[in-house]
Amino acid sequence: MASLAFFELENWEEKIVKQRLAGHKLQFFSRPLSKSNVNKVRNVNGIAVFIYSKVTEALLQKLPKLKFIATMSTGFDHVDLAACRKRGIIVSNVPYYGENTVAEHTFALILAFSRKLIESAERTRRGNFSPHGLCGFDIKGKTIGVIGTGHIGMHVLRMARGFEMRMLAYDVKKDVAGSKRLGFKYVSLDTLLKKSDFVTLHCPYNKQTHHMINNNNIRKMKKDAYLINTARGGLVETEALLNALNSGRLAGAGIDVLEEESAIKEEKQLLAKRFIPNLRTVLENHILLGNENVIITPHNAFNSIEALNRILNTTIDNVSAYLRKKPVNIVK
Ligand code: NAI
Repeated sequence: MASLAFFELENWEEKIVKQRLAGHKLQFFSRPLSKSNVNKVRNVNGIAVFIYSKVTEALLQKLPKLKFIATMSTGFDHVDLAACRKRGIIVSNVPYYGENTVAEHTFALILAFSRKLIESAERTRRGNFSPHGLCGFDIKGKTIGVIGTGHIGMHVLRMARGFEMRMLAYDVKKDVAGSKRLGFKYVSLDTLLKKSDFVTLHCPYNKQTHHMINNNNIRKMKKDAYLINTARGGLVETEALLNALNSGRLAGAGIDVLEEESAIKEEKQLLAKRFIPNLRTVLENHILLGNENVIITPHNAFNSIEALNRILNTTIDNVSAYLRKKPVNIVK
């Protein structure tokens, strides 16, 4: 029987952990691991934490029997890996959890535009059932341009195929087998921008991809095209997007991520109460919000009950694998 402590868990998550790890000595804390509660878990063999638990060398010194850390996140910069290595502590993370979830949100945004969903719902809520001015368009036969054909981009292409869309893609690394299987074509970024009715971003944010869509290339997009961004805000130069929308050079934009929040690394972090006021300020300050051709969601693409369950269940799998002496998803 192992002694394990879980931090930063909600009640519903605690119930699942209790079921799946029955037989072990379990402790639960809704708050992060810190110097104020570390003495309560002095004898644990394993801990599970989210990113607000800063697992420093000083804290590790107070946990002499600790051999395993499961972080309920993809990122692990809140854990002092060098200190863990010195003590022979294994650290596991959750490498993937939301590929189809984010792809589904991408289509929620696309369909909201094609079927004028927001205007339609607002109208009927006011008791007005006139369809006048609510004529949408089919996405069947339209061209989708997917930038980044990794885990999420591939799910978007799989769904696009179901809608019988034409499919173009751009990536620095081509998945040739995937393109044959799903029937999409790799093209240059320029060609993708010129030919797509929907351009959707699914690549990481870094120095190379900063302002990948900018004043110079946004003008290459079709006038009636839509830009969808569920990846990271910094991929798009906000000023370029506003200019294109204001001058009628772009039909609209569906945005789940704004430029100012590019420092965010972990989606689950957005659910923390302390984050919300910050995001609200960002949104309030954002001129884009007032544009009727823009649909903004509050970095919510990951936020499905299934994705949250996958984060939790992968964490429990990581703990179980460690207890079977066959650790998985080890970070180095
Ligand atoms: P992934 O790593 O599986 O795929 C990323 C793809 O982008 C790779 O194929 C890579 O080769 C490509 N890429 C890298 N640099 C590129 C460049 N300069 N130009 C074109 N393509 C490039 O990542 P995954 O899991 O598909 O996630 C994509 C992004 O979605 C993440 O980086 C993250 O920022 C974002 N995301 C957003 C969420 C939300 O809630 N809105 C939730 C989860 C992820």
